[in-house]
Amino acid sequence: MLIKEQFSTFDVDKIRDDFPILSRRINDKPLVYVDNAASTQMPKPVIDAFSDYHSRYHANVHRGVHTLSQEATDAFEKVRTLVKSFIGAGDENEIIYTSGATDSINLVAQSYGRAFLNEGDEILVSNMEHHANIVPWDMLAKEKGLKIVVIPITDEGELDMNAYESLISEKTRIVAINHVSNALGTINPIKEITRIAHQHNAVVMVDGAQAVSHMEVNVVDLDCDFYAFSAHKMLGPTGVGVLYGKRELLDKMPPYRGGGDMILSVSFNTGVTFNQVPHKFEAGTPGIAGVIMLGEAIKYINTIGRDSIAAYENELLEYATLQALKIDGLRVIGTAKKKASVLSFVLDGVHPHDIGTVLDFHGVAIRSGHHCAQPVMERFQIPATSRASFAFYNTKEEVDIFINALKEVLEVFR
Ligand code: ALA
Repeated sequence: MLIKEQFSTFDVDKIRDDFPILSRRINDKPLVYVDNAASTQMPKPVIDAFSDYHSRYHANVHRGVHTLSQEATDAFEKVRTLVKSFIGAGDENEIIYTSGATDSINLVAQSYGRAFLNEGDEILVSNMEHHANIVPWDMLAKEKGLKIVVIPITDEGELDMNAYESLISEKTRIVAINHVSNALGTINPIKEITRIAHQHNAVVMVDGAQAVSHMEVNVVDLDCDFYAFSAHKMLGPTGVGVLYGKRELLDKMPPYRGGGDMILSVSFNTGVTFNQVPHKFEAGTPGIAGVIMLGEAIKYINTIGRDSIAAYENELLEYATLQALKIDGLRVIGTAKKKASVLSFVLDGVHPHDIGTVLDFHGVAIRSGHHCAQPVMERFQIPATSRASFAFYNTKEEVDIFINALKEVLEVFR
């Protein structure tokens, strides 16, 4: 296992050795994986945790007194403590395992939203949200007669804070906002957003999927009411995520899904009583191996340190942006003053999908499309962007390969 001191100079080559997939070749070229906003890659300790759990202590959690079940339960619950510290929460019971950020936001919409919002109430949603932080609110609004109010964004892709202050009112019950935009890279001023929301007694749902592995996050300092993220964007596996919620809110929210483990008792005579948080929200057998892998991912990130990660990724982003802007006809979409690891762009006369295809030929993996953020594309009046998104295991040399491959795109299409 790596020790923190080794990274005082950020030894990226050493880090890369921990990620087996990074030594793959694609189309006979070294893989340059810069699609980290979609999914990050996994280091060996995370991959090995899957095998270790299944080879040594696979059993169901919270259900058996036998040794295997107890070992599995211990490992599963220890991760809750790790997650708690990772995001600065005050209580492990505020950490709910879900299947991902999308599931976490749906939980809040279907539990908090259905129970506590009424006809005519408003939900403020920013124009830069991923569909995961729009559609659950839209579904709820249709069901309950609520109004969705959109907080506009500026030409740079920053939240228009003046508009936010004028749109929020006593009718606003929820503010839905991402910490970092997946399509633009904008880092939003969550603390300020939360402060204003609370003056109006609105709760704040933060989609932190693009933030948690790129910067220090402290939910108590941010004072947000809910914070969602996915393991697969922070070196962990797909199918596992987290919802943080303030204890006083979680306690009064009804369960979202019914089933085993979320009840205290079930009787056809006396009815059903529910378990305490977090179990009240964790019906059925959870993704045990995935949670244990999430724990290893957190340990790995902590070993490097998110301040070091943020500083390094920022250097990569600045370097990549400077190089990209030298390319004739390239326009960066999302030029906020505070950005994290996302370079979204359009290239005059070339469709983003064609860019993605040519880059893949050079071994470079980026994402092209609307990034599940169609309102962002609408706002900038473009059908799609190409997006390179960096992680701490990327290198300056990889940025050069990516930029040279972009130049090849121009040769093919112009
Ligand atoms: N939400 C992921 C992305 O931005 C899939 O690519």
